[in-house]
Amino acid sequence: MQRWRIVAGVRRAVPERVPLAVNPSGARGGEAGTTSAGTIPVSKVILGEEETQGVLEVLRSGMLAQGRKVAELEDEFAAAHGVAHAIAVSNGTVALTAALRGLGIGPGDEVITTPFSFNATLNAILEVGATARFADVRDDFTIDPDAVAASVNHRTAALLPVHLYGLPANMAAIADLAERHGLAIVEDAAQAHGATCAGRSVGGYGVGAFSLYGTKNITCGEGGIVVTDDDETASKVRLLRNQGMRARYDYEIPGYNWRLTDLQAAIAVPQVRRLKDIIAARAANAARLTAGLADAPGLVLPATPADRTHVWHQYTVRIRHQAPVGRREFCAGLERAGVGYGIYYPKLMHDYACYADNPQVIVADTPNARAMTGQVVSLPVHPGLSQADLERIVVASLEAIGG
Ligand SMILES: Cc1ncc(COP(=O)(O)O)c(C=O)c1O
Repeated sequence: MQRWRIVAGVRRAVPERVPLAVNPSGARGGEAGTTSAGTIPVSKVILGEEETQGVLEVLRSGMLAQGRKVAELEDEFAAAHGVAHAIAVSNGTVALTAALRGLGIGPGDEVITTPFSFNATLNAILEVGATARFADVRDDFTIDPDAVAASVNHRTAALLPVHLYGLPANMAAIADLAERHGLAIVEDAAQAHGATCAGRSVGGYGVGAFSLYGTKNITCGEGGIVVTDDDETASKVRLLRNQGMRARYDYEIPGYNWRLTDLQAAIAVPQVRRLKDIIAARAANAARLTAGLADAPGLVLPATPADRTHVWHQYTVRIRHQAPVGRREFCAGLERAGVGYGIYYPKLMHDYACYADNPQVIVADTPNARAMTGQVVSLPVHPGLSQADLERIVVASLEAIGG
C-alpha cells in the first residue's frame, strides 16, 4: 500500500525501496543486528543484562539526570585509562570543545591537526574561535610528527592528533614536540577507548576527548568523556559543563549545560568494565581478517606500529592504484555479498563548501591524507561477528578485489 508523508505542507509518496542503512559518517550495511544470512553490519551495538539492570535501577530511583551513575562512570573510566580525572559530557564533540576551552585555547590560537578525520575535530576547533592548521598523515592514517614539526609557528597553541580507527597517533613523538615548544596536547580519542602508545593510555598525554556515540567501542547512544591528569583543567571543564557553577547558584564563569544523564551512564558503566574483553574480541577479529586477506592483490592491510596497541574501532584497508579493481567495484562486490562496509572519510574535513574561505581554516598540501580519501574501505570487525561471518567477509573481499 502506498504510504504518504507531508513535507513543507505537501503530500509526498514514501518510496517503496528501503535503502541500506547509512550512519552519519557514511557506513553502508546497517547498524542493527542482522543475522549472518543477511547483511553483516559494519558496526553493531552489543549490550548485556547489566546494562538493562543499570537502566532499570536509574529509572526506579526517579533521579534521571547527572548523579551517582555518572560519578561511577567517571571513576571507572579514569581507572581504565590510568588518569586522575574523567569528566562525562553530552557527546564527543562537546568533549573536544571542553578540552580546548579547559586549556584556554581560543581566538588567535592555532591548533595543528590532521585533515583526515570526522568533521567534529575541525568543528570543535572552530567553536572555540581558534584556527585549524592541517598537517599530513602517515601510512598508518595518523598525523605525521615531522609534518607537525614543520607546521609549528609562533601562533601554535595546541597539537590535536586523532587516534583514527582505534590506532593511537605517534604520541611519544608528539609529546616530545609539545614539550620542546611549550604546546598543549588535545587528543581526539573518540575512536580509541583503551588504546595505548609507549605503554600509556590515550588521553593520558594531554587532555583526551572520547565519544560514546552509538557506533563507538563503548556506547550509550550519545555521550562523551574528557580525561586529564591536570587538576586545574579538570576543574575548569567541570565548571564549564555545569553552567559555570561549582555549587548551586554559585557561578564562577559563564558556562553551558554539557551534562550526561545517569540513564546514559548506566549503559556505559558495564562496557567500561568489559573494555579489555571488547578490545580482545576486536583484536582477534582483526587478526582473522589479516590472516585471510594477507595475499589479496592490491589491498593494503592495517598494521600496528610496535610501540602502540590498536583497539580496532575500524578495520580499514586501502585499495592501491595497482589493484585489479577500483574502490567502487570493490564496494559493489561487498554489497553483492551482503557485507557491510564504511568509507571513513570520503573527503578531507575542509573539502566541504561550508569551510571555504574561512580564515580559521588554514589549508595545507597533505598528499597522503588526500590519497587516503580515495582508497579507504572499512570492513566489519565488531565483537558481534561469528567465525562464519569473518569467513564470509574474507571470501567476499577476496572475490571483490579479483586478481
Ligand atoms: C574522530 C572523531 N572525533 C570526534 C567525534 C565526535 O563525537 P560525537 O559524535 O560523540 O560528538 C567522532 C565521532 O563521531 C569521531 O569519530
